[in-house]
Amino acid sequence: MTSTAYLNLDDYEAASRRHLPEPIWTYLSGGAGRERTISANREAFSRWCLLPAPLDSQAADPIVATAILGQSLDFPVILAPTSPQRLFHPDAELASAAGARESGTISIVSTDSQYPLRDIGPEGDFWFQLYCYGTRDTTKKLLHRAESAGATAIVVTVDNSFEARRISLQRSEFGCPDDVEFGILREIGYSDGSVPVNARLPRRVVNWDELAFIQSVTSLPMIVKGIARPSDARRLVDRGVAALIVSNHGGRQLDDSVATLDALVGVVSAVNSAVPVLMDGGVRSGLDVIKAMALGATAVCIGRPYVWGLSLSGVGGVQGVLGLMKAELVDGMRQLGKASILDLGEDLVRHTG
Ligand code: FNR
Repeated sequence: MTSTAYLNLDDYEAASRRHLPEPIWTYLSGGAGRERTISANREAFSRWCLLPAPLDSQAADPIVATAILGQSLDFPVILAPTSPQRLFHPDAELASAAGARESGTISIVSTDSQYPLRDIGPEGDFWFQLYCYGTRDTTKKLLHRAESAGATAIVVTVDNSFEARRISLQRSEFGCPDDVEFGILREIGYSDGSVPVNARLPRRVVNWDELAFIQSVTSLPMIVKGIARPSDARRLVDRGVAALIVSNHGGRQLDDSVATLDALVGVVSAVNSAVPVLMDGGVRSGLDVIKAMALGATAVCIGRPYVWGLSLSGVGGVQGVLGLMKAELVDGMRQLGKASILDLGEDLVRHTG
């Protein structure tokens, strides 16, 4: 398939599905339980429609650049942490970090990455996503390693302390291939890098107490990923977090969780502009980005979509996906009559029930 054949993200998804071995495709696309949350994340976007204001049009080149925590972004789409990326392409996080950088955005690098931070980090800005292993000393080592490698923020994922019931994965023949490693864990001396057959090592539970510890031992801004409840959001703001990511781990942890776009509205209202609120889960076009921002998101993250590109052609595929989403975003802004993504508000969307 030539690049002109990738006209929307569905094209990438279909090509990636054809390309990847079935068990690896199941690991990527699947989630918890009956996978109703995966569907809900997508459906939530289709329940909001756009209300164009073409007579407000001013510029053919709408501004889609923004900044978050001092980080400039050419457009408000960040690569969510996904692991292990070596399942999908040999260049793994090297390709996703480079693809983000070349596209004017950043990637969030998972603790469970193939490549050590000395290979991923030096080339540019990235956020480090923390999973907690072993003792608190291991957490400290990970945080200090991330700081010295140049991470500009720590993203603490709070919705993945326990292994999930991923039924589709259990029914597949999935087993992690031998060439997959946890290079960052090896880099800090926690393990020899080998990955269990289910691609997951046991983790420490991240609760309020553990979060306070993490915050006390890092000098970097702390972002909490995996929030759905307004009351949790408010409490985290009171504790001084730098930003929040409304997320249900792409429907991979708890089935029947609230769709993230629906949860976003309550979290944004509870946070009351005190800190940036990001969201992920089911974002599949530039128009989805517009909807999330109209409902108060500062930016969005994508997970599976950039992995589709990665799986097909490494860094070029990641750039392809990001370039397509940016083009869709620019087109959507023009058609809506909006000159800047900073001007998007709730008046641009209507809930269709
Ligand atoms: C993930 N996700 C994830 N999250 C995280 O904090 N650390 C991680 O290592 C991973 N690993 C991971 C692997 C794969 C294959 C997927 C699909 C997802 C969750 C991810 O960051 C994000 O929350 C969701 O992927 C967002 O949903 P969409 O965009 O995939 O619908």
